[in-house]
Amino acid sequence: MPAAVTTATPSATKRVVVLVSGAGSNLHALLERPCNGEVVRVISDQPGAGGLALARARNIDAVAVDRRQYADRSVWDAALREVVAEAAAELVVLAGFMRILSGAFISRWPTLNVHPSLLPAFPGAHAVADALRHGVKITGATVHFVVEQVDAGPIVAQESVAVRANDTTKTLHARIKTVEHRLLPECVALFCADRLAVDGRQVRILP
Ligand code: GRF
Repeated sequence: MPAAVTTATPSATKRVVVLVSGAGSNLHALLERPCNGEVVRVISDQPGAGGLALARARNIDAVAVDRRQYADRSVWDAALREVVAEAAAELVVLAGFMRILSGAFISRWPTLNVHPSLLPAFPGAHAVADALRHGVKITGATVHFVVEQVDAGPIVAQESVAVRANDTTKTLHARIKTVEHRLLPECVALFCADRLAVDGRQVRILP
């Protein structure tokens, strides 16, 4: 289950930890938009992730927790939890993080994920290619709270993107990312302003 949306002792500025595996264009979008949150640490499972370099260039603490250095997933997940806890995170954001987190992780921090499809359609790591292959005419982007089941948590926001006849995975993903770059920062800002209320599968945006 997603953790309670408001922290026990809400602080004026929420401490946000961002997890990335790749280029980090969503991280970049997040850093560009001011909100009641501060990205205090960026963590990656890939030491060479562009997102880590992006964080370092902005003097944001950047840490690699390389999955290959750990015997199995649970030991790696425990190490990851330690690094997130050290940063005193109040919100974790998965911005292109390509690994599955444990129940112990998810129950400890409210965690938002951005996914390149209109969930529940096309969960998983190949959402854009799967949508194209299926022949849908409309796909999009989803921001949701993370639960143990992959890409299945309560949905915070969604926006559609029309598929064009000549689209490739690359062109379609690029247009979806343009939407993600707006949607994810908006959702993080709402969380940081204590404006998201989760009730089962329903996420309400408070006035
Ligand atoms: C995004 O499309 C996101 O939805 C998916 O991974 C991609 C990450 O892209 N989970 P970037 O690293 O933020 O550019």
